[in-house]
Amino acid sequence: MKESQPSAIYLKDYKVPPFLIDKTELTFELDEATTVVTSKLHMRRNPDSTENTAPLVLDGGEDVKLVAVAMDDYVLPSGEYQLVDNQLIITATADNFVLTCETLIEPQNNTRLEGLYRSSSMFCTQCEAEGFRHITYYLDRPDVMSVFTTRIIADATKYPVMLSNGNEISRELQEDGKTSVVWHDPFPKPAYLFALVSGNLEVKNDTFVTQSQREVKLQIFTEAHNIDKVDYAMEALKRSMRWDEDVYGREYDLDIFMIVAVDDFNMGAMENKGLNIFNSSCLLASPETTTDDTYLRVEAIVAHEYFHNWSGNRVTCRDWFQLSLKEGFTVFRDQSFSADMHSDTVKRVEDVSFLKTAQFAEDAGPMAHPVRPASFIEISNFYTLTVYEKGAEIVRMIHTLLGAENFRKGSDLYFERHDGQAVTCDDFVAAMQDASGVDLTQFKRWYSQAGTPQIRVTDEYDAQSQTYQLTLQQETPATPGQPTKLPLHIPVRLGLIDESGNALSVSSSGHVSDEHLLELTEAEQVFEFTQVATKPVPSLLRGFSAPVKLSYDYSSADLLLLLSSDQDGFNRWNAGQQLAVNELNTLIEQAVAGETLSLTSNLVEGFKSLLQDASLDPAMVALILNLPSQAYLSELAQVIHPNAIKQARQYLKKQIAESLQADFAQAYQQHQVTGQYQAEAKDIASRSLKNLALSYWLESGDDAAKQVVVAQFESADNMTDQFAALSIAVHHGHDKADDLLDAFYQQWQNEPLVVNKWLMLSASREQEDAIAKVTALMEHEAFDLKNPNKVRSLLGGFGQNIAAFHQVDGSGYQFLADQILVLDKRNPQIASRLCTPLTRWKKMAPELSVKMKAELERIMANELSKDVYEVISKSLA
Ligand code: ARG
Ligand code: ZN
Repeated sequence: MKESQPSAIYLKDYKVPPFLIDKTELTFELDEATTVVTSKLHMRRNPDSTENTAPLVLDGGEDVKLVAVAMDDYVLPSGEYQLVDNQLIITATADNFVLTCETLIEPQNNTRLEGLYRSSSMFCTQCEAEGFRHITYYLDRPDVMSVFTTRIIADATKYPVMLSNGNEISRELQEDGKTSVVWHDPFPKPAYLFALVSGNLEVKNDTFVTQSQREVKLQIFTEAHNIDKVDYAMEALKRSMRWDEDVYGREYDLDIFMIVAVDDFNMGAMENKGLNIFNSSCLLASPETTTDDTYLRVEAIVAHEYFHNWSGNRVTCRDWFQLSLKEGFTVFRDQSFSADMHSDTVKRVEDVSFLKTAQFAEDAGPMAHPVRPASFIEISNFYTLTVYEKGAEIVRMIHTLLGAENFRKGSDLYFERHDGQAVTCDDFVAAMQDASGVDLTQFKRWYSQAGTPQIRVTDEYDAQSQTYQLTLQQETPATPGQPTKLPLHIPVRLGLIDESGNALSVSSSGHVSDEHLLELTEAEQVFEFTQVATKPVPSLLRGFSAPVKLSYDYSSADLLLLLSSDQDGFNRWNAGQQLAVNELNTLIEQAVAGETLSLTSNLVEGFKSLLQDASLDPAMVALILNLPSQAYLSELAQVIHPNAIKQARQYLKKQIAESLQADFAQAYQQHQVTGQYQAEAKDIASRSLKNLALSYWLESGDDAAKQVVVAQFESADNMTDQFAALSIAVHHGHDKADDLLDAFYQQWQNEPLVVNKWLMLSASREQEDAIAKVTALMEHEAFDLKNPNKVRSLLGGFGQNIAAFHQVDGSGYQFLADQILVLDKRNPQIASRLCTPLTRWKKMAPELSVKMKAELERIMANELSKDVYEVISKSLA
């Protein structure tokens, strides 16, 4: 145990920085053993600060070694500065001065992957949130914005490519044979947006002409063997640049935009000014090695990081509590972009399904926090689904309440008011409110209140007066530190449909339409509709207009009606999902009670008509037929019985498969895609339905399907189909599963991103000795504990392996806890993310809950990073 435990910092304690840094000049002498970093910081006291005698306090890291520090030209003797808790403190300062620091760092020993580190053969950086302090002493906070000039000195035979932010302004050969390259970024930025890359890299070049006819040079860099996999990302980048001009009026600002792919990266990607750095898993794509899902992910992340150039870089966050200012808004932007590129209904279903599964679970767990957290111990722990996905839902609700036109006025005003500034979520909302005239005062509670609101809906129809009343009650459950909640301002989109599925045009507050937007602002509110010709079935919360849990007592017949006829495609999916959830919950109860499982609804008939309805988008059919996931059912459960959930899902899948065997066999044939592989909505839709049909077909026990799986595996010309066949074989007990897994590894052993998929699938395979198998995989040549993608694949796959992970003797939990402790010494961010499954212990069935808790307590007894300490201590609180 540490003598003192890490402590929290609070939003309410925010103060403007006592010093500012107008210019930052950096020199990196890159070297395999020791890299020398020299910084010249042009500093002055902040006129807006009241602390005008405060000492200068610069952030550093335990891995930064201070060699010398000078103020203007005066080298400070050791008595004139202090090093305390990784901070450099200088008490006596002038009002204006240049601070020069020389520091030594060892990128090759940097296993946290924050700051400057080595990944394969190159040097690269990750500075968000607080990585820059692992490079040199600095005011490492986002409200200190500075103009950076960066000199990189390296051996150009080993590291010919030397990149940083902005424009390259000089490149020269030095007398010592090294090359010195200088980059200058004219846009002031916080240190978290700094980047440096150097290595022996290949480049793909392109250009983009902006709306004002400026030509921007586009470059994507990778190691030589990957350069043939960047074409898709390049096209996605150009689409993003055009879309941001068309939809938001935002033009790119520098003359060059660069992206670099690196293999070792803690997260997905990073929006460093003019020099985005990507996890190669989020950038590289080729038909043979990349699945449809990953294609879409690459496109979305390229767009996301590009969009940050305005929502994040030109306008940034004042402090890290405001993280959702840039992340929520940028996720909303990338979601809208993907919807425009493909199908908006499919995109919405996928996003909502993810939100309801993972963000709702976070909101109900010990790490629940508001979209704008009030405190944290380690900011890296707050790059969460709440800040990102729920944050995007908040922006979407503003869009819904204002309408597209006013929303655009609001975003224009936001960028105009705050260009070049570091601002808050309140500033964002104020711009939206001022531009539209819509009062968002109460709405702002969404930023400060954690937890998923629950809305209960009841209704009453009066045939005589043709009036229909809906009563909505809202309540948000208590979350850690927030025992009581206030009513939120919730937009509820809805329509009413009659018994044959037609939209009813009805009047609400004098407005006649077949769709209405209710604004729920009170704990309980009644909404009245007139001119309602027949008793309606309400289609509520269309398009998932708010991130809430809505309940209404639908009969199966109502849900079948919505499933087949709702005008809102999203709600058709939702009705199908609800039918399946109801059926599964009954089966889960039967399984928990040890009863024989049997179906109680007409779900199968509903699914049959979906399969036969040629007017439907195959992607939507696949989404509806894909049974609610184990994770989603766990989120919904009061008490989680993992094996009962698994049993119920398997049983239902088998029943559907057997009843509709012929339909699935036919759907498989019908939705074959011919012609060259394209990652485009229509083909993706067909492949998703075809492969879903194949999994049911195999589950039905038809021998013909067994052969089809093997044939598809062997003859597929794209990874989507090959990997689908493999996964189906592995998860449906195909007798050739072992052979196929081996063949797959043999075929792809030199493609690390494909090998990661193999690791994940192998680790998730349910078999008797699964823990031993996973332990063996950790020793496999394909595994590497240093690489976050491999750790995520293997341990992520293991987490989905219900029987193994939830062993009643606790050995699955113990295995994960062991890995967390090992990884925490190397890479706290990765270790902390691995804790998530264990944080759900309070909801687990009692016999599992005690075992999980015991592992949390065992972890807690060690000396931990701030990252893991925060998650574990809050989970046990
Ligand atoms: N800003 C990046 C993005 O969302 C993510 C950076 C995450 N960094 C971290 N240390 N958690 O695009
Ligand atoms: Zn982002």
